[in-house]
Amino acid sequence: MGLSLLAYLLLAATGIWMFRARQNRSSRPNWLRSLHYAIGGTMVGLVLLLLAVGIVGTLGHFGSLGHSPHLIAGLTVVGLVLLSYGSATQINVKQPWARSLHIGTNIALFVGFLWVSLTGWSVVQKYLP
Ligand code: HEM
Ligand code: HEM
Repeated sequence: MGLSLLAYLLLAATGIWMFRARQNRSSRPNWLRSLHYAIGGTMVGLVLLLLAVGIVGTLGHFGSLGHSPHLIAGLTVVGLVLLSYGSATQINVKQPWARSLHIGTNIALFVGFLWVSLTGWSVVQKYLP
């Protein structure tokens, strides 16, 4: 989870850098987009891993899912991450809406990460005496 938050922060930094370069019509280094893309792919992988661990671990322990809002929060984050990735692949000159969708989903993703962390933390509390 820490790694996916770090990935998110790096994506925000490199994304805002590209945004400012575009606004100022100044050039940006070519590696910047590749770096942003690579970190993005890593974050998608990490979040899917957390989803798998969460589902397999809960099934193994309880034999069922859906003990708390953490399930919905987790599924929301996974959905937003996939939407962000999907919209990113569509960003080009012909589809300006894809960029807005990408930036919008990433702002929603920030809230999603907060939600999944808080609900995750409260299920952790259940195991403590
Ligand atoms: C899910 C993984 C992600 C992938 C694969 C991805 C990929 C991309 C791509 C391909 C672009 C278009 C670059 C271009 O203009 O050529 C882009 C733009 C952008 N990304 Fe991401 N991104 C991801 C996540 C994020 C996150 C989490 C944030 C912010 C927290 C973010 C912020 C931005 C911003 C602000 C831009 C706009 C750059 C501009 O206006 O020129 N991205 N991203
Ligand atoms: C993107 C991040 C995450 C995703 C996608 C995710 C996903 C999931 C899912 C789908 C479950 C099964 C829940 C159920 O069926 O009730 C689960 C269980 C669990 N997760 Fe996460 N999780 C994430 C982050 C976290 C974090 C940050 C924590 C701790 C602070 C955490 C702690 C737990 C615990 C303790 C369980 C067992 C739940 C139970 O016994 O009801 N998770 N997770």
